[in-house]
Amino acid sequence: MEYQNLLVEIENHIALLTINRPEKLNALNRETISELHQALKALNEDDEVRVIIMTGAGTKAFVAGADIAEFSSFSMKEGEQLAARGQEILFDFIERLGTPVIAAINGFALGGGLELALSCHFRVASDNARMGLPEVSLGVIPGYGGTQRLPQLIGKGRALELILTGGMIGVEQAHMSGLINHMVAQEELIPLCKSIAGKIINNSPRAIATAIKAVNAGFGRHGFSTEIKAFGECFGSKDFKEGTSAFLEKRKAKFTGN
Ligand code: COA
Repeated sequence: MEYQNLLVEIENHIALLTINRPEKLNALNRETISELHQALKALNEDDEVRVIIMTGAGTKAFVAGADIAEFSSFSMKEGEQLAARGQEILFDFIERLGTPVIAAINGFALGGGLELALSCHFRVASDNARMGLPEVSLGVIPGYGGTQRLPQLIGKGRALELILTGGMIGVEQAHMSGLINHMVAQEELIPLCKSIAGKIINNSPRAIATAIKAVNAGFGRHGFSTEIKAFGECFGSKDFKEGTSAFLEKRKAKFTGN
């Protein structure tokens, strides 16, 4: 199958899924989200595929976030629908996939990009990677599960520092906090992911899918609906209009708290 914004290669039971919009730092627009859903569904249904490695095209970014240009004029209702639909077809979908998905973070993983990596079953990053949830700098909050999966992974205090500062961390800090499992030179990133995948493919696909299901069952779901609603509410604020306009106009935002 051909995709507009994705590349898919399958070799030795391992699928390499590359998000391919390098000129926009692989930002997740609506079409890319929908294609990712289709591609992941097809790969999961393909018995030949036992592990999926997800990465970004180019050397600069994994994914620099949700496409700000696309949602800056959304209403509260549209904002809420954006988060709910995205979580359903992509972020929750990946987390629940029976085929393991490894995020190969090869550069910026920001906002929806970090949330995408957080939805994957585990993460490996190259030494140039920078990770963060800068949504509050746009007057919004993470809406694709970031307020839930980041604290699950690195603890509440560390997650809140990252979310509230809107800052970025490098690979060493990410490694220390458990956000990524391994850090390597950029040219070693895909080879390392393939070598880990090589160990997984020898094991029972059925048992692997069941293990993922059992691990997921240990984490609560309540906060996700709170996040979706709160994300939508941000779209009605002056701060949101100011934050997204400032990004698109390439200037610093002036927030008033309204
Ligand atoms: N949505 C839409 N477009 C994006 C984007 C996003 N999340 N992130 C990057 N882009 C676009 C830029 O607008 C620019 O497009 P242009 O060349 O048509 O102007 C292109 O990708 C390259 O980005 P640029 O900002 O010029 O690169 P940089 O090296 O100066 O900065 C970043 C890199 C990642 C620091 C910066 O792009 C950034 O802050 N992106 C937004 C991150 C963010 O807030 N994500 C959360 C969204 S919820």
